[in-house]
Amino acid sequence: MIISSREIHLWYAYDEQICDSQLLCQYHRLLNEEECSQQKRFYFEKHRHQYLITRALIRTVLSLYVNEIAPEKWQFTKNKYGKPSISNSRLRLPLHFNISHTDKMVVLAVTVDQEVGVDVEYLLRSGKTVEIADSFFSPIEARQLLALPVEKQKDRFFDLWTLKEAYIKACGMGLSIPLDHFSYSFPSQGEITISIEPERNDQPEYWQFWQIRPNDSHKVSLAIKGDEITDSYSISMRKIIPLSNSVEVNYPIVRNTALNRS
Ligand SMILES: CC(C)(COP(=O)(O)OP(=O)(O)OC[C@H]1O[C@@H](n2cnc3c(N)ncnc32)[C@H](O)[C@@H]1OP(=O)(O)O)[C@@H](O)C(=O)NCCC(=O)NCCS
Repeated sequence: MIISSREIHLWYAYDEQICDSQLLCQYHRLLNEEECSQQKRFYFEKHRHQYLITRALIRTVLSLYVNEIAPEKWQFTKNKYGKPSISNSRLRLPLHFNISHTDKMVVLAVTVDQEVGVDVEYLLRSGKTVEIADSFFSPIEARQLLALPVEKQKDRFFDLWTLKEAYIKACGMGLSIPLDHFSYSFPSQGEITISIEPERNDQPEYWQFWQIRPNDSHKVSLAIKGDEITDSYSISMRKIIPLSNSVEVNYPIVRNTALNRS
């Protein structure tokens, strides 16, 4: 698999659909000691299963780009906020990746050179949504959400949630970034803009965001910060069963920042 520095590859695994016991055994053999003990710590089988699929997905996909490193040979480290990255020495390709998982889906984003952030949410999840907008979104985001017709608010909630996660994950700093220090707005259908408070010392014009709808029950957001304002990226997507098969998919990109740039 070939990837250039202006491409983002998204890999989708539907963990509940991967149940072949021989494959699962193969996945187990790819895990290092730490991953094996982490997997055992999950109380529910569905979480152990998703953890296994996630590790197999990362390891096998990375090896598609760098064939000389076998899936079980990848080494990882985490920054102080928990973002994993590759730590193998003398890697010929500066690969970056980010992972997100939710009910029924794991998404892996792969890039070269630039850090990337991805978030997927399951729209049918239980728990509060619009009622907690005030606690997670900036005042202007919350105000604009609550000004929408009630039937559109939940959709906006997940748009904002996944986009905010994608930004903090691309920055690699998780929730140490105050969530009201940056705000999204949607000036027209299909368009995303971000404004960032001066305290963050970040440049909104370098950022690009996308929202993707793999199906009716999931939303995905993706974030990358280019080196130049003019950098533009192409996205390609594949649905995969690690160590078995993958097919290209063309899930709709329903919003992006491209309109700001034309
Ligand atoms: C941990 C966090 C980075 C993402 O958590 P999440 O959205 O619950 O979970 P996701 O499945 O999308 O992402 C988890 C993956 O992100 C990666 N990750 C962990 N810390 C990260 C960081 N600081 N930066 C980027 N990626 C990170 C890991 O690969 C992790 O998966 P793994 O543990 O299987 O390796 C962080 O944003 C968080 O704690 N969020 C909690 C939810 C929340 O309050 N969100 C507010 C949205 S408005």
